[in-house]
Amino acid sequence: LKDEVATNLTLIISVKELEDLKIEILGKKGKLTDIMKGMRNLSKEERPVIGQLANEVRDFITNEIDAKMIELKGIEKLKRMSDEIIDITLPGRGTGTGRLHPITETMDFLKDIFIEMGFDVAAGPELETTFNNFDALNIPETHSSRDLQDTFYIDNKTVLRTHTSPVQIRYMQDKTAPFRMVCPGKVYRSDYDVSHTPMFHQMEGLMVGENISFANLKAILTEFVNKVFGETNVRFRPHFFPFTEPSAEMDVECVICKGKGCRLCKNTGWLEIMGCGMVDPEVLKSVDYDADKVSGFAFGMGIERIAMLRHGIDDLRAFYDNDMRFLKQFNF
Ligand code: PHE
Repeated sequence: LKDEVATNLTLIISVKELEDLKIEILGKKGKLTDIMKGMRNLSKEERPVIGQLANEVRDFITNEIDAKMIELKGIEKLKRMSDEIIDITLPGRGTGTGRLHPITETMDFLKDIFIEMGFDVAAGPELETTFNNFDALNIPETHSSRDLQDTFYIDNKTVLRTHTSPVQIRYMQDKTAPFRMVCPGKVYRSDYDVSHTPMFHQMEGLMVGENISFANLKAILTEFVNKVFGETNVRFRPHFFPFTEPSAEMDVECVICKGKGCRLCKNTGWLEIMGCGMVDPEVLKSVDYDADKVSGFAFGMGIERIAMLRHGIDDLRAFYDNDMRFLKQFNF
C-alpha cells in the first residue's frame, strides 16, 4: 500500500486528484480503513503487531499526502495569480458617451431663443384634467378633438394631454399679467403613420399684458423663425382654434427647396410649423382675467416638424425607432 501511494503521488498534479486519492485510501470506505476494520478477525497475538504496522503505514501515508497537498496548493495559487495579472499596457475598451436625442436638442435650441427674448419657461403634467385640456380652452363637448379616436382617456375627468395649451390655463391661474412664457413638453394623440406618432412634442407660448396685439405676435414669431432657419419668408394663413380669435397657421418657406417645391413640402414651397392667434376672451374669463384690461397671443408648435427641417429627416417615426445608426449621426 505504501508503494502504491508513493507511485500515485508522483503522478498526481492537481489538488482535486490528491483529494480523491486521500479519500480512496484514508476515507471511510478507504483501503487502509478496510484493513484496520479487518483487524477484528486477527488473533490476540497478531493484533498488536499488525496494528502497529497499520498505524505506521497510516502516519506515513498521511504525512506524504499532507506534504504533497502543501506543494500542490502552492503551485495552483501561483498559477491563479499569474492568470489574473492585469496587463496595464492594454488600451481601454472605452465606455462610449451618451448624447442628446435630436428632439431634446431641438427643444433646448428653440427654448433658448425664447429665453433670450425674455420668456419664462413653464411646465405642466402630461396627465391632465379634461377641464384644463378642453373646457377652460373653450373647446365644447361636441368638438371632434374630444373624440375617443384622437384622445387617450384615462377616465371621464382625466386625459393624456392632447396639446400643451392646458399649461396656458395653469400658468394664468398661478400668475398675473403681464408675462410671457413658453412650455415645451410631450403630448399624446391616438394616431400612427409617416407623419404621426401617438406621442410627440409641442412648445406652447403665451404672452399676456396691456395692448398686446396681433402685430406683436407676428413680430415675435417672425423673429423666432429667422433665428431658427436664418432669414426665411413666412406667411400667416387664417385658421380656426376654439381658444384663439382671430387664429392663424404660420408657414415657413421650405428650407430644403427654397420655395421651389419638393417632396418635404409636397411641392407647395411652404411648410406649416405652428398654430397661433389672439387669446380668446372666453379663455381669459375662465381664469378670471379681465378681458377688457389685458389681451394676449398664444402659439403652439410641433417640435418634430422643426427638427425634421433642421436635420433633413423625412420620416417622423425615425425619432422613435431607437435605431442606433440613426441616433449616432447626431453629435451635439
Ligand atoms: N393647441 C394647438 C394644437 O395643438 C396649437 C395652438 C396653440 C394654436 C396656441 C393656437 C394657439 O394644434
